[in-house]
Parts: sequence; C-alpha cells; structure tokens
Amino acid sequence: MKKRVLWLAGLLCRQVLAAPPQVVLNPAPSRPDRKLHGRFLHITDIHPDPYYAKGTSQSSQCHRKESDKDQRAGYYGAPFGICDSPWTLTNFTFEHLEDHWSSEIDFVIWTGDNARHDEDHEIPRPLDEIFALNRAVAKKMEDVFLKKGIPVVPSLGNNDNTLSPGPNEITDEFASIWDAFIPTAAKTSFRQGAYYAVEVIPDALAAISLNTMYFYHNNKAVRGCLVGDASDPGNIQFDWLEEQLEMYRARQMQVLDAEFSGHVPPSDAHYFPECYYRYVELSLRYQNVILGSLFGVSNFYFRMPSHNFEGTIFEALMADFEALVKGSEHLNYDDYAVVSVSPSLVPNPYLPSFRVFSYNISGLGSTTVGAVGEDEYLLMTKKDRASRWKHLPYRHGNDGNDGRQCTGAGYWESWRCKLHPWRSDSHAPSRQNTLWTPLGYAQYYIPRLEEYDEKDEPKFKLEYLTFPISSLQVAEGPVPLRNLPKSLREAGVTESELAPYGLGDLTIPSWIDLACKLGKPREKKLRKRFKKYMYMGGEDI
Ligand SMILES: *[C@@H]1O[C@H](CO)[C@@H](O)[C@H](O)[C@H]1NC(C)=O
Ligand SMILES: *[C@@H]1O[C@H](CO)[C@@H](O)[C@H](O)[C@H]1NC(C)=O
Repeated sequence: MKKRVLWLAGLLCRQVLAAPPQVVLNPAPSRPDRKLHGRFLHITDIHPDPYYAKGTSQSSQCHRKESDKDQRAGYYGAPFGICDSPWTLTNFTFEHLEDHWSSEIDFVIWTGDNARHDEDHEIPRPLDEIFALNRAVAKKMEDVFLKKGIPVVPSLGNNDNTLSPGPNEITDEFASIWDAFIPTAAKTSFRQGAYYAVEVIPDALAAISLNTMYFYHNNKAVRGCLVGDASDPGNIQFDWLEEQLEMYRARQMQVLDAEFSGHVPPSDAHYFPECYYRYVELSLRYQNVILGSLFGVSNFYFRMPSHNFEGTIFEALMADFEALVKGSEHLNYDDYAVVSVSPSLVPNPYLPSFRVFSYNISGLGSTTVGAVGEDEYLLMTKKDRASRWKHLPYRHGNDGNDGRQCTGAGYWESWRCKLHPWRSDSHAPSRQNTLWTPLGYAQYYIPRLEEYDEKDEPKFKLEYLTFPISSLQVAEGPVPLRNLPKSLREAGVTESELAPYGLGDLTIPSWIDLACKLGKPREKKLRKRFKKYMYMGGEDI
C-alpha cells in the first residue's frame, strides 16, 4: 500500500524527562517556574512591506498609484489581494497577541517569511532590507513573547533568501538576528544550514525547525537528496534530523515530544522527489516520536499530497479524500503522518490569520515545568513504555515497490529502495489521545479588513475551531473563555458554524476520520464549510 503524508497540523516528538548526564540539553530561554497552559501559537508569513502605501494600486504591489480600476490598498492591508502587509497590520497583530494570548500559551512556532515579496521591479529588494525586516519582526517576537519566558521557534521562509548551503553570510546573519531564540548548543547546526532543535519544554517537548529550502525543487543551489550524495545539503539536513529523532527515541524511557516546523510544506509538487521520499520515510519511521508537522506558505488546511492535479486545491483535496474512502478497507494508520499547513498573516491571497493549538497536559495538573509531573510521567512510562517499546514488531517498509522495481537501474539507487525498518506504536501521542497529544486548534482572522482605518481598529475574530463545543465551556478548556465569541460561551449551545468538525483530538486516526467524511460527496454541508474555511470565504484557486 502506498504510504502517504496527510498535510495537517502540529506535531511533536518525544524525549526524556530524566536525561542521562552526558546529554547536552538545549533548553529554550524560558523561565524555569512557568506554568503550562497546554497551548501554543503558530504564526506564519508576516511579510511586512516598508513601501506599502495606503490608497495605491495593487498592480504596483501597493507601492504607487496606477490604474483607477485597481483595488486600492487599505490602511490595514489589501484583503484577498497580492500585496504584502503594511506595518499597521504587523504592529496591530503583535499588540493583539500581547493582550490576548501572551499569558495563555507555552511557546510560539513562527514559520518564516518576514520580508516583503520581491515582485516590484521598480524597487529591488537588497539583502540588507531582508535582514532589517527580519530584525524588526524578531524584535517584536522578543518583546511580546521571549521576554515573558515564552520560547519562540523561528524557521526560514522562501522569501528570506537562504538558498545556499551554509555557513555563509546569510546563515551567519540569521544566527545573529535570532540569537535570542536559538540555544547555544544549537548554533552549530544553525550556521551550517539554518536548521536546529529546541526544547520548548525542557526535558519534555522539543521543536525541530527545518530549512525546507534545501528540499525545495526550485532551489538551484542544492542537488535534491540523491542517494550517495553525502555532501548534498538536503541529505546532510536529513542525516542530522534522523540523528535528532534517534536521540529523542533513545531517551525513550521517558519520552515526550518535539515539534517539527518548516516553511515549504512537503509534497511531491514542491520537493525534489528523493527529498520528499526521505521526508515521508522519516515521518513514518518516527511516527511514535513525532507529534505532527507545522508548515506555512499556503492557506489550506490539510491534505495528502497528490500528484499533479488539474483544478483547484479544493478539488484536488476532495479527490484525495475520495480515494482514501475507496481504499479504506486496507487503511493502516502506520502508513500516515500528519502535516498541517497554516494560513498566513499577510492578506495574500486571503485574510490575516493565525492559529492557536491546544495539546494534552492532563496529568501534569497545575504543575510547573521541569519540576512536577515527573513522578506521574515516570510511572506512566515505566509501566507502559517498557513493554510497549520492547514488544513492538519491526515493520519493513515498502512504498508500493515489490522489490523487483529496486533491481532496475532507475530505482535501486533511490531512497525508496534503501528503506530502514520502522516501528509504529498505536499508543503513541500521535495515534491516541494522551499526554502531549495535539487536541485541536482555533483559527482567528480579520474579516472585512478593508473597512478599518486610522479611526477604527480591526478585530481578530474566531473563524472556526476543530474542538467539540462540549469541550469549550470550562475554565481550563482548550481555548481561554475570554477568547471565545459569546455565541460559544452561552449555556446550552450545541451547534455552531464556528465548530464544524467536533474533533476530540488531532491524532492520525481523528484526521483520517475527518478526511473520510469529507471524501463522501454526499456530505455536502460539511464540504461546503470546509471549502469556506479553506478559502476564508474568498475564491477557489
Ligand atoms: C510599528 O512598530 C515599530 C516599532 O515597534 C515602530 O517603529 C513603527 O513606527 C510602527 N509602525 C506603525 C505604522 O505603526
Ligand atoms: C488527555 O489524555 C488523557 C489520557 O492520558 C485522557 O484521559 C484525557 O481525556 C485527555 N485530555 C483531553 C482534554 O482530551
């Protein structure tokens, strides 16, 4: 059976509580006594543009006045447009996050693209400008989150310009711009290729930030992860990633989770074929270590990367989901990984948006990081983990090749024919709701962005959330009550457009369930909602 990656949401790998003394920890600069909330923010594609000018034309990237027929640049941005973000929107967003979220979350995943796009030929974009914009946004991240002890995990975007293998001027400059976010022990891997790992919850949860530019098929400075090309930057990064995952797994007696993030989401349309193959293979082989993957760039929600498909993204997705339903008799959760692609802050091509994920911290209670909760966790791991890890069968992967294929010259020197055996674990947090499992997310956006101006400040509103309504109306629920709209706080509400999916958690089985529901053409209402949320009410692309 062909293995697939479901494009989805946040993941995490696990690692130890009681680390062996020789292990060098990479704690993020967080306060040791902070209380966990079981939530994190994912924000992506901020794209501030210092040349953005209110009232200009979109055909000039909102830089000059051109045609009168053009949609005009608004004070807070040009919704569903092609322009970048004005500073007003960027600043407003950080103020909003500070007031409404900075005391409610445990860490921030910030997936790249902090410069304007390079599409206006009249205003070239020098490297210095990219660095300056990144510094300005990094400063805001520091002020709003890091200074309060909340780790921030940045990763590079395709417009941030790190295409060549490091160390080079660009990785060095980013190492300096992100100095406060990157733990000392991670500086070496960062300078090498702008990837690194951080323990966002020391000894419990790590985030791995990948530089997906080295897998990206449009990048002429890399060679595409060919087998045997040990010096290809993509292969070097995968070797490093595998080492990290193996280290987290080796510290498995008391394993928790880490998190992957990166900018360009994995698909055979965006990655070199062999890089894509390695990505999928590692995601499956470490399914019991990884909780999920978070990506930026596009606005869609979750999917299985399909082959080139003529038509809109929505149609491609539905075709994927229909195929999933057809093959559901043979469905094996071991064959899936989840990748979530979050919407951008820049209103191009939709509306400004961010997501707040919730994850399971039951059992840790009101404990503080690194101190309490250990007993419980150790108990859990001693009891369950020991037997769990010992008796798991090794599975030998086959990606639809029957062995014969691998004797052919075109294939035998490919990663698919060099598979390692892997273990999966139906009790892992990616498979079953338990400590560290991602539970769901709430997506916020600014509708009617064009209506706001100097006198009238915009509002971030809940666009939708994945949780069942019944889980929301409690003090320590997945979304802080103050950040829920009144309609969801009212007693007795059992149905709402804002809570269309009712997912109890974001495990692989839950996502696949939802995909199978969407894969039935008769589920018209659910499909319609899904499409509306996917495009934020805008047009299909
Ligand atoms: C945005 O914030 C920065 C510093 O935090 C400030 O220098 C700049 O003037 C602000 N821009 C706008 C348009 O508010
Ligand atoms: C978290 O996991 C535990 C099992 O470890 C489960 O009992 C609990 O219901 C989960 N919490 C939530 C909010 O889903």
